[in-house]
Amino acid sequence: MKQKITVTTLYKMKEKGEKIAALTAYDYPFAKMADQAGVHIILVGDSLGMVVQGQTSTLPVTMDEMIYHTKLVSKGVENAFVIGDMPFMSYQVKLSKAVKNAGRFLKEAGAEAVKLEGGVDVCDTIKAISAAGIPVQAHIGLTPQSVHKMGGYKVQRNEQKLIEDAKRVEDAGAFSVVLEGIPEDISKKITEIISIPTIGIGAGLYCDGQILVLHDCLGLNTGHIPKFVKKFANLGEMAIEGISTYVKEVGAKEFPSKKHCY
Ligand code: KIV
Repeated sequence: MKQKITVTTLYKMKEKGEKIAALTAYDYPFAKMADQAGVHIILVGDSLGMVVQGQTSTLPVTMDEMIYHTKLVSKGVENAFVIGDMPFMSYQVKLSKAVKNAGRFLKEAGAEAVKLEGGVDVCDTIKAISAAGIPVQAHIGLTPQSVHKMGGYKVQRNEQKLIEDAKRVEDAGAFSVVLEGIPEDISKKITEIISIPTIGIGAGLYCDGQILVLHDCLGLNTGHIPKFVKKFANLGEMAIEGISTYVKEVGAKEFPSKKHCY
């Protein structure tokens, strides 16, 4: 029987050099499949704004939407560690509001931790949420909620700032940190310097773990596919093929056949 993954499991995996496989999920069936496939961390990412809602950025995603999707995911998961992603403006305005919103992920939606974007600038928030007993995963480098500040979705190369951000979020109490859009040599250094697990996306091989957006990983994304993405399946093409056959068979009066009738 597989073991329930906890923060302790993740720390031990880093210690032993065992790689952590993380994936996003947004609903019950895919969360269940990811869990059965042995994914260690399931992140209910605010990337759902783009891959599920069809928005052009993650900025419009609301707390209530995140809670709804996190509930669906938690229902499908037995072993993986479930993290809820704090959406834009749910943790930036007031510390007390940030703690309250983080708490909703655990209290209402069954998550076991939250993730928020930022480094040095969000350390007080990480401290306050951790102090409430909620594990926090930080997210540095390319932080999509700051797309307009960064001037686009750009690889972040300021080594000094990235290392400072990583050290400071660890000091503030983050249990892990996502490294997004960072050159491989810098994410390798960060992974060696800090003692909490680093989870990379577009950050090379040397992070303690990797994360991909589910729709990119399975070929369900019809939009722009970044360089760091590897398609591990082609579900999008399979779905179109399957649905086209259904449409044809309905038109040709081949479906339903006798065996599908009462
Ligand atoms: O929202 C998301 O899916 C994320 C991951 C890409 C790390 O933040």
